[in-house]
Amino acid sequence: MKAQSGSGSAVDAAELERKRRMQWWHEAKFGMFIHWGLYSVIGRHEWVMELEAIPVAEYEQLTKLFRPKPHPAKEWAKLAKLAGMKYMVMTTKHHEGFCLFDTKLTDYCAPKVCGRDLVAEFVEAARSEGLRVGFYYSLMDWHHPDGVRCAHDEEARKRFVEYIHGQVRELCTNYGKIDILWYDVPWPLSAEGWESERMNRMVRELQPDIIINNRSGLPEDFDTPEQHIRPSVGRAWEACMTMNESWGYHKADDAWKTPKQILRNLITCARDGGNYLLNIGPMPDGTVPEESVRILEEVGSWMSKHGDTIYGAEPCAVKSSVFANFTRKGNKLFVHVYFWPGSEWAIGGLRTKVLSAKLRLTGEEVKLEQDEFRVRFKGLPEEPPEQPITVIELECDGEPIQDMMFVRQNMPRRSV
Ligand code: GLC
Repeated sequence: MKAQSGSGSAVDAAELERKRRMQWWHEAKFGMFIHWGLYSVIGRHEWVMELEAIPVAEYEQLTKLFRPKPHPAKEWAKLAKLAGMKYMVMTTKHHEGFCLFDTKLTDYCAPKVCGRDLVAEFVEAARSEGLRVGFYYSLMDWHHPDGVRCAHDEEARKRFVEYIHGQVRELCTNYGKIDILWYDVPWPLSAEGWESERMNRMVRELQPDIIINNRSGLPEDFDTPEQHIRPSVGRAWEACMTMNESWGYHKADDAWKTPKQILRNLITCARDGGNYLLNIGPMPDGTVPEESVRILEEVGSWMSKHGDTIYGAEPCAVKSSVFANFTRKGNKLFVHVYFWPGSEWAIGGLRTKVLSAKLRLTGEEVKLEQDEFRVRFKGLPEEPPEQPITVIELECDGEPIQDMMFVRQNMPRRSV
């Protein structure tokens, strides 16, 4: 019994420690993902090498065309800040194997191709805008001779693991404090094959406050649902998403999400206790595609008014409506109306007493009536007061709870 409670408290202590180092991240809610590499030169998605079966020697020619303009990362960082993002995660090496950082372990890296450490530039730019810094690093590698061989050749595996661990060590040593390590695609090895436990122990020794995602084959600090929002139970999570349909620059991909859709996604993540990592795919010279800039500016203009309904939001038990979504801080409930229904409408099943309501834009009080089944709002404008989403702030006398089952079971029905 004793031993059990001993190890139990060690687990509790580790969880407390995790909570401490992740606090800023939970509050931050919104980050920028940046996919940039040689694939940007071709401009047909970051998987172009594999999907179009381009041989390594041919693909390597792209290094001759990869000539970034001076300091593109400054533009990204300014844009991230403007959009209301609090951290940035950049591809230091994607599946193509080309390293944007200075590495002693291969010549296939930006300093040897264009004389610049693009990761150093990124870190400096993010920090100077007051943003936290994350490194994406792909374990899968289509360039390295051992990248595939490692799956069935033990000598190759050992060499490749040394290479990968060595690069992760460089990333965690040469750039000051790093806030997030964002691994990707452990194919073709398992956590044992990558020796991920040893690797992540090294990472935490070098960067004691770093938080690590779940893609080195180990769960670590947070889950990473991709291109959809799926909350993890009892674990931190971050939904990562593209603005169109590719992560890397894709010239012809015009499937852009609207700023409204992006804000709705962010609100859903905040409501369910998660983060939202939204991607840009800069062009080969580092310029952010015009459409992404336009979208992020619009997102930022809404965030500058209503960001405080997102940052530090706590999980919210009010979820049901077909025209609004919700976030919560303490006893405050923020109603984010994305399809404005007009002057009179209601939220069903709200079982907590609402003390007052106001239009956040103007501070104007909103008239309300509440019974045990619904809270009704009256005297609102016919047209949406705000675009793309109007926010109404409710002050409740406890943590807002919605119980649709209570409505279903107890609503007065017509007697027979
Ligand atoms: C996937 C893709 C990759 C992208 C990543 C982002 O694993 O392979 O291209 O970088 O997801 O989550």
